[in-house]
Parts: sequence; structure tokens; C-alpha cells
Amino acid sequence: MKICLISAEVAPFAKTGGLGDVAAALARALAAAGHEVRIFLPLYGNLRTGWDTIVGVDFLRDIPLQMGPHHYRFSIQTAPLPGGGPWVYFVGCPPLYARPSVYSAEWDEPLRHAALTRAALLSCQRMGFAPDILHVNDWHAGLAPLLLKTEFGWDRLFARTKSVLTIHNLAYQGVVPWKYVREIGLEGSAAQLAGSAGAGRFGFLETGLVHANAVTTVSRTYAREIQTPAQGFGLDGLLRRMGGKLLGIPNGVDTQEWSPVDDAKIPAAYTADDLSGKAICKEKLLEEAGLTPADGAPVIGIVSRMSSQKGFELCFRALPRLLDEEDLRIVVLGSGDPRLEGFFDGLQRRYPERVRFANRYDDALAHRIEAGSDMFLMPSKFEPCGLNQMYSLLYGTVPIVHRTGGLADTVSIYDPETGEGTGIVFDHFTEAGLDWALRGALKLWKQPEHWKRMQQNGMAQDFSWTQRVKEYEALYGLLTG
Ligand code: ADP
Ligand code: GLC
Repeated sequence: MKICLISAEVAPFAKTGGLGDVAAALARALAAAGHEVRIFLPLYGNLRTGWDTIVGVDFLRDIPLQMGPHHYRFSIQTAPLPGGGPWVYFVGCPPLYARPSVYSAEWDEPLRHAALTRAALLSCQRMGFAPDILHVNDWHAGLAPLLLKTEFGWDRLFARTKSVLTIHNLAYQGVVPWKYVREIGLEGSAAQLAGSAGAGRFGFLETGLVHANAVTTVSRTYAREIQTPAQGFGLDGLLRRMGGKLLGIPNGVDTQEWSPVDDAKIPAAYTADDLSGKAICKEKLLEEAGLTPADGAPVIGIVSRMSSQKGFELCFRALPRLLDEEDLRIVVLGSGDPRLEGFFDGLQRRYPERVRFANRYDDALAHRIEAGSDMFLMPSKFEPCGLNQMYSLLYGTVPIVHRTGGLADTVSIYDPETGEGTGIVFDHFTEAGLDWALRGALKLWKQPEHWKRMQQNGMAQDFSWTQRVKEYEALYGLLTG
């Protein structure tokens, strides 16, 4: 099949969270399964890598891009996705994308994303690329299913193209004031824009949900949860009415990037049968963090965007209390909400020998924390899928998670009676719930046979994309069949 993907993030070029990992891994897995995949991403001013491999495409230069009253021009540059992946098409349009961050809070943010969709479809036309599937991600590309039918509907190139929209996070919907109809140049399709959020506004994501041929989200539990008022962010009614058009397909792990057997970013490799390398990773991590050697104490790792979604407010009292009572180390990597950053910063000041907070984005350190920690804390309030708990399982790092979304689907509670289960899962999103989980984890830590069993159970899990991609192929087949 010919597949056109659109995403605001594609790792390793541009990533702020799991969207980048997943867009890249899916593209790679689809290409490996024999499909012809082209993936579109803005040429951001802060691409993390790739500047040395990207080349211009001669016949895709200086293409006019009209956005309402705004005239832009874009040029396409391309590079293969590292790790044997398909071609990534970077949309170069300096007035929109030459900025120091992937997302911005500027007035033209909706234009930046709408422009990516238009540029992708215009490029398909110029390349004569007739996608069977146009698969777009999150609110950023939410206008694509509509534009395919309206603005680009005249072009026979797209006559057979079916659209798929994946929700990675329903909390972000791209709801914008009605004036953007004019700013983006959507007057012709204004009647088809969806805006249940309130008068005088429309939503990119909601419009996408209405017009896409199929909608997916990134775990089975989240697919159910978003149909409830509690987790539907106002769109649960629409999602409930979708019936079979809405489908949960779990994310996988890109094992080329995340595998303790051959991860170049960690100090020592290891396997489930021989965990001695993990002990070295732990020692080095504590050394690097400038913390007191463990001497039998466990290390709890956290790698996360600091956002209210991640549930860290439950830690405000639970972690200091635990640190006062138990010997443990905590290594945290993340940035975002100043209130949460402030909490972890305060924690490291209060326990300078035992807590370290790296307040930044650092991919290599994320790998070293996954490998060097004994436990991984992810108390998310909601979690569409979550990747770090899966990385943790594969790295023998026991996840402590709230039972929600993808966390509920990927981590099972360890039962000492049967020796089955992979981590600690708590049901109640309360301080008491988290406290119970942390204390349960520490109790098991003190029983090495159980701990090792739990680690090995986790390391034996299969989250490979070769399996996951079959579900996308089945969906594409159904739509085009
Ligand atoms: P979300 O997409 O909601 O942020 P996921 O668990 O799906 O959550 O994915 C997060 C991804 O971003 C993981 O690959 C994680 O390692 C990475 N990540 C998050 N924060 C940081 C950080 N500060 N430094 C490096 N990697 C990070
Ligand atoms: C979102 C979600 C996260 C998910 C990721 C990739 O950012 O918050 O749970 O794993 O997208 O799908």
C-alpha cells in the first residue's frame, strides 16, 4: 500500500514526547512490512539531528502555500529515517518553522499545523504520489481528513485515499477562535468544521474525528475511557456514537532504540539471565548523579514531561514521607510545568545525597535512568498509552503505575503466590493509593527472589512493532478493500 503519514513529531529529528517515538516506529514498521511510506514533518529550526543528511528535492522548491490572506512558500528536503526507515519529507517554511521549539504559543500556531497538512497534500500532488491511506496524528493534523474531501477533493489522485486519525492525547484538541477560519482560509468548508467546545470556536481534532474514515487511539483501555464523561474531554458523546469507526491499537516499543542487550547509550549491556550489567548501570547512574552509593537501597527513576497528566501531585507528600522512613535513591529527568519542576527541585535540596533532579530534555540520560533504576514511577492521572513503563519492563526496571489507559494494559500486578505479574499497579488515584504502591514495591524489593522473578517476567514481554503493525495493516485493508 501507499501510505502518507503526517506528524508534528518524528524521532530522532523532532520529539517532545511519545508521539515522536511512535510516528517514527510506525513508519519504520510499515516500511519493513513492504509498504511505500512517506512521512511529513516540519523543518523546525531546532531539529535534534539530521542536518548533515538532509537534501533538497529539486522539483519541490518554492511552492506557493496560501493560508487565507497569508502567502508562504515552502520547499521540501528529505532524509531517510535512521534505522532502515522510509523517507522523511521535511517541509521547509522558515516564517512558520524556523523557531527554537517544536510547539509555540504564538498566534500562528494553528497556521503552522494547518500548513503542514496542506504542504503534505500539495507535495503528494507534485510527486504524483496517490496514497491509499492518509494517516495523521493528533489535533495538529486534524484538518487533513476534511481538506482531503474539500480543497483536494477535485484531484483524482486522491479519489481512493482513505483517512485515518490517531488520537495520542485527547487533552489537546486544537480548539481555536472562529477568526482562524479566515486566517487559515477555510471559508469554503466552514460548514463542515466541528466545534462543540462553544460558540465562536472550532476544533482541529474534533473536525478530524468527524471526517476521518477511521479513528484510532493508542491503547484498548484508553479507547474505552475516552468514551466516558470523566475522560472524554467533552468529546465522549461524539466518540461513543462512532461505534466501529473508533479502534484502540496499542503502541509498541522500538527495540532498535530500546533494548538493554545492545543499547549504545548505557554503560553495560545485560539480559534477563545475566543482570550483572544492570548493577553496573545502577552504580554508574548514582555516580553520575552525585548520589550516595546504594548499598542495598533501591533507585526509583522518573523520566517524564512535567504535566498535570502525569500525576506527580500525588508525590508531594508521599515521596518526602517515604524518604524520611526508608533508604532509597530517586533520579528524576524532566521539564515542563514550573509547579512540578519546583517540587522536584525542592526534593533534591531537602535530600541532596539521595535525590537528583535533571531539569532538562536528555535522551541519553533517559536511557541511563531506565537501565540504572530498580523501579520506575509513573503515577499518571490518565495515560493514552505510555512508553516509559514498557521501556522499564524491557530493562528489568519494575514499573509502579496507576491503573489507567495503556498503563493498565501493559503492566500487571505481581502476585507473590503465583509468581506472575510484572509490576505494581494501584487503583485509587490518591496519595494513599500511591503510598500503598510504593510501600508494596519496597516490601518486594526486600525479597530478592520475588524481585528477580518480577524483573524477568517484565523482560520477557513482547512489545514489538512487528506485531502491532499488523493491526494497522488490517485496518488499512478494511478501509481500502
Ligand atoms: P508522553 O508522550 O505523554 O510524554 P510517553 O510515555 O508516551 O509519554 O512518551 C514519553 C517519551 O518522551 C519517552 O520516550 C521518554 O523517554 C521521553 N521523554 C520525556 N521526557 C524526557 C526528557 N526530559 N528527556 C528525555 N526524554 C524524555
Ligand atoms: C501521548 C500520550 C502517551 C502516548 C504517546 C504516544 O503523548 O500522552 O500516553 O504513549 O502519545 O502515543
